[in-house]
Amino acid sequence: MSANTPTSRDDLSPEAVFFQAFHGMGRLGPGSESSTLRAVEMVGRRDEPLRILDVGCGNGVQTLLLTEAWPRATVTAVDNYQPFLETLMQEATRRGCADRLTTVCSSMDALDFPDGSFDLIWSEGAIYNIGFERGIREWKRLLAPGGALACSEACWLVDAASPDVAAFWHAEYPQIAPVAVQLKQIEAAGYRRHDHFILPAADWHAYYDPLQTNITRMRAEYPAHSPARDVLDTLQHEINLFRAHETEYSYAFYAMWV
Ligand SMILES: C[S@@+](CC[C@H](N)C(=O)[O-])C[C@H]1O[C@@H](n2cnc3c(N)ncnc32)[C@H](O)[C@@H]1O
Repeated sequence: MSANTPTSRDDLSPEAVFFQAFHGMGRLGPGSESSTLRAVEMVGRRDEPLRILDVGCGNGVQTLLLTEAWPRATVTAVDNYQPFLETLMQEATRRGCADRLTTVCSSMDALDFPDGSFDLIWSEGAIYNIGFERGIREWKRLLAPGGALACSEACWLVDAASPDVAAFWHAEYPQIAPVAVQLKQIEAAGYRRHDHFILPAADWHAYYDPLQTNITRMRAEYPAHSPARDVLDTLQHEINLFRAHETEYSYAFYAMWV
């Protein structure tokens, strides 16, 4: 039984409640088809049999777009939650590209591929799990000469965030930084050149709106002051914060070349 198909409300762990809140969603973080395709153009289309690694692929909405944007590519999709990989493989089979896709259930902090295995590493809304600075340094060895890493990462849009925004990020991901700092981290990691753009607020709403629908439904199903409600309250706080302060932070989509 997977975490998001419980037998009854009472036997759900906080982790299972968390996964249930995301049940039925495609993308699991801020992003959109248009931003993924804009990042594809930023990296540059090449009519070559690229070897692509998608780290923290989730349900693989962007994985499938990559597979279709580079029709001669082979794609390896990594996530540490097997049910997401199964959803991705089912969809790839339906869309006729499963023969070019391999899924690997593994942690992104122990990617077990030889040096130079990939021409392109992709990671949307996921590198924060290992930390941006660590991720771009550790994954660099996996790139073949001339290869690129493209990833989205939380960034400040203002010099001084509102106190409640600052407190949230300090607790959740203190590594969030201004773009200028992240560009210096990319250079310090030894990448030859880089490019970036900022995700529009619409990419966050496209993520939060279906999550809000799930949370609203689930709040009515769980008693107040229960561990499940604590999980839902935490997610609600995150949504409320963005809706009130969407000009203060976003994700930057970076491309960097070795
Ligand atoms: C915010 S979601 C983004 C998923 C997808 N890229 C998207 O944009 O829809 C982050 C993903 O990272 C995965 N993840 C979290 N920690 C991980 C780890 N240590 N190793 C591999 N994947 C991890 C989660 O299971 C989840 O699918």
